Amino acid sequence: MVLMSGRTFCAHVIIINFLLLLSYNLIYGTETDIFCLKSIKNSLEDPYGYLKSSWDFNNITQGSICRFTGVECWHPNENRVLNLNLSNMGLKGQFPRAIQNCTSLTGLDFSINKLSGKIPADIDVLLPFVVTLDLSYNNFSGEIPKSVANCSYLNSLKLDRNALSGRIPGELSFLTRLRTFTVTNNLLRGPVPNLPQVPAESYANNSDLCGGPLPPCS
Ligand SMILES: *[C@@H]1O[C@H](CO)[C@@H](O)[C@H](O)[C@H]1NC(C)=O
Ligand SMILES: *[C@@H]1O[C@H](CO)[C@@H](O)[C@H](O)[C@H]1NC(C)=O
Ligand SMILES: *[C@@H]1O[C@H](CO)[C@@H](O)[C@H](O)[C@H]1NC(C)=O
Ligand SMILES: *[C@@H]1O[C@H](CO)[C@@H](O)[C@H](O)[C@H]1NC(C)=O
Ligand SMILES: *[C@@H]1O[C@H](CO)[C@@H](O)[C@H](O)[C@H]1NC(C)=O
Ligand SMILES: *[C@@H]1O[C@H](CO)[C@@H](O)[C@H](O)[C@H]1NC(C)=O
Repeated sequence: MVLMSGRTFCAHVIIINFLLLLSYNLIYGTETDIFCLKSIKNSLEDPYGYLKSSWDFNNITQGSICRFTGVECWHPNENRVLNLNLSNMGLKGQFPRAIQNCTSLTGLDFSINKLSGKIPADIDVLLPFVVTLDLSYNNFSGEIPKSVANCSYLNSLKLDRNALSGRIPGELSFLTRLRTFTVTNNLLRGPVPNLPQVPAESYANNSDLCGGPLPPCS
């Protein structure tokens, strides 16, 4: 313990917190996960009825939400959502804040829909354990929230083909696990964050990005 560096200690505290939260959710998480999906279903327009036909909340038993379209659970017999994939369903509406009640979620794919409005400023509070987040091919506008830099487990963040504007938060360089970061076809400008692993192609088709793998900022 004495020899542990501050950084290592910090990492241990984070891991222990993570495990404590997960075990808490193991016991109490399932009611809130059902409520989470119910609220998401109610908050989104579902013109093709993908959720309407599959997400049936009558007579829910342990594990029944795990058989819903796009839902993957930690364990097939336990109503605790691990990943949610609602890609390419023609969904409309705002980013569903109710996702906060899927408290053990690690993956969210909303790509290829018609979601609009801002990415919530408190995305870190809504998705504290998210590892992969795909919001590409939607109609999100406004800035990329700084707080996404607090989603410290992020491995992959895809925001391509939206209407995002302003600068990319420099704080994203704090995301040490980030391997994939793509923001092509938006309206972003200014310096890109210091992420040596991210190639120039990931920034293509924006208003005026510079620095990093792109031409230097003037
Ligand atoms: C609920 O589901 C269980 C198990 O599938 C079944 O035995 C029961 O009859 C169902 N109840 C209703 C009200 O549909
Ligand atoms: C979500 O589902 C789509 C279509 O089935 C698939 O192409 C995509 O890879 C999935 N996303 C994730 C993160 O697994
Ligand atoms: C989460 O669920 C609780 C009830 O379990 C509810 O009061 C709260 O509004 C929900 N939060 C969101 C963001 O929907
Ligand atoms: C996208 O959002 C903008 C406003 O932010 C709106 O003018 C436009 O019609 C939207 N496009 C689609 C395809 O929903
Ligand atoms: C990140 O989280 C910390 C602690 O909760 C908070 O004080 C800080 O404001 C957050 N940063 C951003 C950019 O939201
Ligand atoms: C950039 O935009 C052009 C023209 O719309 C398109 O042909 C090209 O595929 C886009 N590049 C990327 C990486 O999306």
